[in-house]
Amino acid sequence: MKQIFGLIPAAGVGARMRADRPKQYLSLGSSTLLERSVQCLLADVRVARVFIVVAPEDCIAATLALPARCEILAAGGATRAESVRNGLRVVHGIAGRDDWILVHDAARPCLEPVELAALIDEGGLDEHGGLLATPLSDTVKREHQGRVAQTVERAGLWRAQTPQFFRIDTLRRALERSANATTATDEAAAVEMLGLHPRLIAGSPSNIKVTTAGDLRLAEAILKQQGRW
Ligand code: CTP
Ligand code: MG
Repeated sequence: MKQIFGLIPAAGVGARMRADRPKQYLSLGSSTLLERSVQCLLADVRVARVFIVVAPEDCIAATLALPARCEILAAGGATRAESVRNGLRVVHGIAGRDDWILVHDAARPCLEPVELAALIDEGGLDEHGGLLATPLSDTVKREHQGRVAQTVERAGLWRAQTPQFFRIDTLRRALERSANATTATDEAAAVEMLGLHPRLIAGSPSNIKVTTAGDLRLAEAILKQQGRW
C-alpha cells in the first residue's frame, strides 16, 4: 500500500507582498497562510505526513501550533525549486519505493478537499503523476515593448496550480536532473524534462496563489464564501 506525503515549500521572503514578515506568516482570520495550506493537505486522510521546508534562519515556524502529522525541515534554498529539492532529499530518505508526494505552495490556502481528492484519485493512477490546473479563459497576448506582438492561440493552454502529485522516486530524479535548469518553475516542468507528460486535472480558479496584498483580500473573500473563514 503506497503512502502519500505532503511537501510545502515555505522558505520564500514574499517580496511582492511588501509586508513586515514573509507572507506565509501573515494571518487570514485565525490562522496564517502556512497553517491553512498545511490543513488543506491534511484534510485528506490519505495524506500520512506533511513536511514544511523553511529557511534555515526561520524562527517563526516553530512557534506555530502545527498539527502532529507535520514536520518542519530547515532546508530552504535560494529558489523555490531548490527548497523543494532539499526537502525531497529528506523525504526520499524515509519513504518507500512506491510512495507518492504532493507538493503544495504555502501561499495557496484556498485549496478545497474535493480538488485534492480528484488529484489523488486521478493523478495517483497515472505513472506520470498529475497536477491541478485550470484552462485559460482570457485571450492571451504576447508583448513586445509595451505593444501586442501577437495574439497567442488559447486552445489547449492551462494555468498550472499546486498541489502537484508524483511518485517520490520520479520527482526526485526529475529535480536532481533539472538542478541547473532555470526553466523548471514547477515540479511538473522538471518531470516533463524526463520525457514524461503529467496529467492535467481540472481544479478551481479559487485555488489562488497569494502574491500581493490584493490577493490577501481575495483569499479572505474566497474562504468566507467556502465557509472556512
Ligand atoms: N519558496 C521557497 N523557497 C524559496 C522561494 C519560494 O520555499 N527560495 C516558496 C514560498 O514560500 C511559497 C512558494 O514557494 O510558498 C511559492 O513562491 P512565491 O509565491 O513566489 O513566494 P515568495 O518567493 O515568498 O514571494 P516573492 O516571489 O514575491 O518573493
Ligand atoms: Mg517567489
